[in-house]
Amino acid sequence: MAKAIKVWAPASVANVGVGFDILGFALEKPGDEIIIREGVTPGLKITSITGAKGRLPLEVMKNTAGFAAYRLLEDIGATDIPLEMEIHKKMPFGSGLGSSAASAVGGVYGVSEFLKTGKTKMELLKYAVEGEQIADGAYHADNVGPSLLGGMILIRDNDTLDVKKIHVPGGLFIVVIYPHIEVLTRESRGILKKEISFADSIKQSGNLASFIAAMFTSDFGLLGRSLKDLIVEPQRAHLIPAFYDIKEMALNTGALGMSISGAGPSVFAMCTDSAMAEEIGMKGQAILRNKKIDSDVFLSGINLEGAYKF
Ligand code: HSE
Repeated sequence: MAKAIKVWAPASVANVGVGFDILGFALEKPGDEIIIREGVTPGLKITSITGAKGRLPLEVMKNTAGFAAYRLLEDIGATDIPLEMEIHKKMPFGSGLGSSAASAVGGVYGVSEFLKTGKTKMELLKYAVEGEQIADGAYHADNVGPSLLGGMILIRDNDTLDVKKIHVPGGLFIVVIYPHIEVLTRESRGILKKEISFADSIKQSGNLASFIAAMFTSDFGLLGRSLKDLIVEPQRAHLIPAFYDIKEMALNTGALGMSISGAGPSVFAMCTDSAMAEEIGMKGQAILRNKKIDSDVFLSGINLEGAYKF
């Protein structure tokens, strides 16, 4: 057994405008780094967390990374093996970029790799979803799935984790703008209406199905026409400073589409060239600066690999 290993789990964009709770893709950066090493006393311990300003619990059962790993250890009858976990958060939380999901993925993937369980990433998915669930209370794989498996993941059913990797065409560039305000997923979910109209359901189904077809056929025209969220974006836009100004700017600059990343406040745009993505990032930051809000920009392709061991 190696004395220690280090794994990386990337941030992700959930919902992708058209698929609330059932669609997400992985980013190349940012993400979380997790180190797993042999411990000295029986059981899993979290020995340190950096990059979280003391806001994440060291208790295994209350920590998304710890809990996901513990659930795996329980299933393989290994809860007494001495293990230590270090969590290095290299991404903001409350940002809409799947921070708790990345930790859950890193925790379970790291422990699985360290112990050489032979479990596939697909087999680890449920543990990572259970880990993330302790952060936002809901069981959905739209961040965890892409962070673990990479690429763009469509979830037919969250309860049974019936997931499918979607073809990612070449030539797509993502820009994420993260305004430095915090939106808690639990609250951002709490404001959503429980019912939608029949007409909106029909239109949104058309958009989702066409978006997926566009990904498989590299039809960027169709992709742009489909990347429209009639249901959740209008209910959450007010949580994000200058959302509609940024969206208008992104579309005028040539983005295929723009929407909220996960529960916000980050927003993402899909573009067909990297210079355009960069321009949208700079202009978005200028709009936010005018409102006295600092921000970060992440430029990325869609990360096809997901979590990996260094
Ligand atoms: N689909 C989730 C939401 C992603 O938008 O609430 C964040 O966990």
